[in-house]
Amino acid sequence: MASFNLLLLPGDGIGVEVMGEVKKILDFMTKTGMARFETETDLVGGAAYDAHKKAISDDAVKLAHQSDAVLFGAVGGPQWDSVPYDQRPEAGLLRLRKDLEMFANLRPAICYPALAAASSLKHEIVEGLDIMIVRELTGGVYFGEPKEIVTLENGEKRGVDTQVYTTHEIERIGRVAFELARKRGNKVTSSEKRNVMKSGLLWNQVITDLHKREYADVVLEHMLADALGMQLVRWPKQFDVIVTDNLFGDMLSDVASMLTGSLGMLPSASMGIADAKTGKRKSMYEPVHGSAPDIAGKGLANPIAMIGSFAMALRYSLGLSDAADLVEKAIADVLNSGLRTKDIAGPGVNAISTSEMGDAVLQAIQKLAR
Ligand code: IPM
Ligand code: MG
Repeated sequence: MASFNLLLLPGDGIGVEVMGEVKKILDFMTKTGMARFETETDLVGGAAYDAHKKAISDDAVKLAHQSDAVLFGAVGGPQWDSVPYDQRPEAGLLRLRKDLEMFANLRPAICYPALAAASSLKHEIVEGLDIMIVRELTGGVYFGEPKEIVTLENGEKRGVDTQVYTTHEIERIGRVAFELARKRGNKVTSSEKRNVMKSGLLWNQVITDLHKREYADVVLEHMLADALGMQLVRWPKQFDVIVTDNLFGDMLSDVASMLTGSLGMLPSASMGIADAKTGKRKSMYEPVHGSAPDIAGKGLANPIAMIGSFAMALRYSLGLSDAADLVEKAIADVLNSGLRTKDIAGPGVNAISTSEMGDAVLQAIQKLAR
């Protein structure tokens, strides 16, 4: 039986609760022989800071390197607002992305038919939506240098972040987008701000050249990032794969999440470079939602984004696409049965708790596996 090493990093806030629901599924799959999962659990974010004054320990990063995949919950919370900037909870997440060079972040936004009513947009605009945002994750303004706050001679301060991209960074994320498009709707929309940014101009040129050279069979369009934000809420079904930089991808994927009904529905996968020998990529799977301190510990969180992220791990890193299908089908069945956590419950619908939703998905998996 295939055996896999998973590192679980639940993190802070609702990250801990939603990870608990994935553990139930891991245990079931191991017990029934679908696969054997060896798991290690470690700290990240505020929890890691409290334990050892670092947003993630070197040991945890080492475990991440050794694992077949990392499952990540969420980080952050107001109680860590005043910790040193370099050790703020988000620094743990950014270090993992950078150290494992996970440059490609896949954020699918799928609107389950049963949830079309939960979106703040009209039913016909979102029903059946299936788009994939491919966000560059290890470059751009998140990591560019200089990144600093300096004091000027006149005593004023100046904050600086640097948006920077090189040809190879744009090419490799472009390839991920084009390859994905070939397996989906065969269309890529590349997005930047070439009208005001040099890095955007280069982005546009590199994607255009790559398309001409290697992917002419795929339909390519370019759209300025502000216009794309508008089109996402106007008529999102025009898109198939969207490829964009780190910062625009961060914003646009939050927008896209509301098209699916709730931020609690959106999974994501972060992938590194393919190993020259094995072809394997370092990878991490996390819900797009954050730690949601306002609802943490109350059993209100929706575990579906976390469970969906686990399904992506089964598919993209572990080669268990049947098991991934099973989990995704189970999620759809549970939603069709009308069960809702608070974030996706319409008016007058009784919401169930985080663990009740996790149990319902597990039961649906058990039923489908029979
Ligand atoms: C995300 C989050 C992170 C980001 C934060 C927590 C640093 O918003 O994954 O979208 O900005 O990348
Ligand atoms: Mg974000």
